[in-house]
Amino acid sequence: GGEIFVRITVLGLGYVGAVAAAALARDGHQVLGVDVDPAKVERYRRAEVPFYEPGLDELVREGVAAGRLRFALAGEVEPGQLGDFVFVAVGTPSRATGAADLSQVEAALAWVAERVRRGRPAGAGVLRAGEAVDPQGGAGSSDGVGAADRVAMAGTEATAGTVWPAAAGGLRAPIVVVKSTVPPGTGRRLARRYLAPLGLAYVANPEFLREGSAVHDWFHPDRVVVGSEERAAAERVAALFAGYGAPVLVTDTTTAEMVKYGANAFLATKISFINELANMCDRVGADVEEVARGIGLDPRIGSQFLRAGLGYGGSCFPKDVAALDHLARVYDYPFELLRAVIAVNARQRLLPLYALREVFGSLAGVPVAVLGLAFKPNTDDVREAPALDLIPLLVEEGAEVRAADPQAVERARAVLPGEVRLTPSALEALDGARAVVLATEWDAFVRLDWEEAARRMDEPRFVFDGRNALDPARMAALGFRYRGVGRGR
Ligand code: UGA
Repeated sequence: GGEIFVRITVLGLGYVGAVAAAALARDGHQVLGVDVDPAKVERYRRAEVPFYEPGLDELVREGVAAGRLRFALAGEVEPGQLGDFVFVAVGTPSRATGAADLSQVEAALAWVAERVRRGRPAGAGVLRAGEAVDPQGGAGSSDGVGAADRVAMAGTEATAGTVWPAAAGGLRAPIVVVKSTVPPGTGRRLARRYLAPLGLAYVANPEFLREGSAVHDWFHPDRVVVGSEERAAAERVAALFAGYGAPVLVTDTTTAEMVKYGANAFLATKISFINELANMCDRVGADVEEVARGIGLDPRIGSQFLRAGLGYGGSCFPKDVAALDHLARVYDYPFELLRAVIAVNARQRLLPLYALREVFGSLAGVPVAVLGLAFKPNTDDVREAPALDLIPLLVEEGAEVRAADPQAVERARAVLPGEVRLTPSALEALDGARAVVLATEWDAFVRLDWEEAARRMDEPRFVFDGRNALDPARMAALGFRYRGVGRGR
């Protein structure tokens, strides 16, 4: 009731952008998803999602069918089609130094600025964000939202596969909402350079959703963080998420950016901490799973993100922790704790290699199965996946490696040595293997018919459970030689 539906452009259709676009369309807004990749846009127009994310296909199909979700190539978008908000959800990959590569974010802001500039009648003055312009020139009425929303609601009858027709009543200055993770300080600098000259507001709105449960996370956020130098703009963005019932933090741009890095760095620290504790457990003869339970019951510690194993991977933690470390260096601040987090994580993913050497001596000719290529279950994302660091080293030492993953085989094939046999089926990978490394705790692997696996494998049936996901007693009973991480040797 009383909700105002707006027009939103989402720039960048990776998993954050695609989820944002489809979810905002579900909420009732008119959303235009934009990307620079024609193949991607083509697939979205057919209501297909070009990567695996549970629940997203349905959401996209629904939005497209309802006519609230459309897609366009960046070059096709005309001034006047941007709407009230432009969400930027492009990638910020790592450079070799660890610094975040901001070129896509800069290109996105330049893209917005260029369209706003082209859409402005010559001689129009600088507008404040949210103000409407009337095409005859001069600033529009200052009743802000009312006039602007009349503009926004005009021309919503575009047909599927096209972009929005230019707003009939005039052009309005969109609020630019940056979801991409950028180092603290970036937003203020880029806003000054690209947006301030046009009077456009920049709002940092970090995203906390997890791959594999991104759709659920979008609709059930723990908190909403919006940061801007222009509080009114930040509050308008926060209002979009009011229905989600989460606490809202409205702050300045740089602080909002630091919240994102702080959250990811802290979670990564928790993981490296439990991994170091696990390594100690192996040495003193304690069980890290019980230790995690024991310490996690203290609400000041909390039970989540205390799963010991091969460490964190994915498109976020490694990149964001490296970027914060790089930022610390730039500011001549030695963030020692963070460096240890990175070092522990790098070593952790090689534990199976050290264990296999211990068991077999030389790995030459040893058939080893690796289960799990995705960096975690329920995704086909292999970025910074532990298995992709581990497998080439096993191959180098002469092991005969076969690997299985329910979703990530295609993506892994592109980056793994050609001699690695890849299959979606764990049992097929295990056939004739003498050792198996569980690298990703997919349900299909945890619930595998391990009795059948034992029959198919050869002595000594060594299992390195890199996620502590299997039951050691049961595995021993089935004739496996079991080793986990921090569960004793
Ligand atoms: C992470 C954060 O959880 C999100 O809140 C954040 O929005 C996102 O990064 C991002 O910055 O975009 P994600 O990378 O999808 O999300 O995956 P997580 O579920 O957090 O797992 C990250 C890695 O940590 C995985 O490799 C996982 O196996 C590992 N992990 C996680 C552990 O090794 N132990 C744990 O206890 C928890």
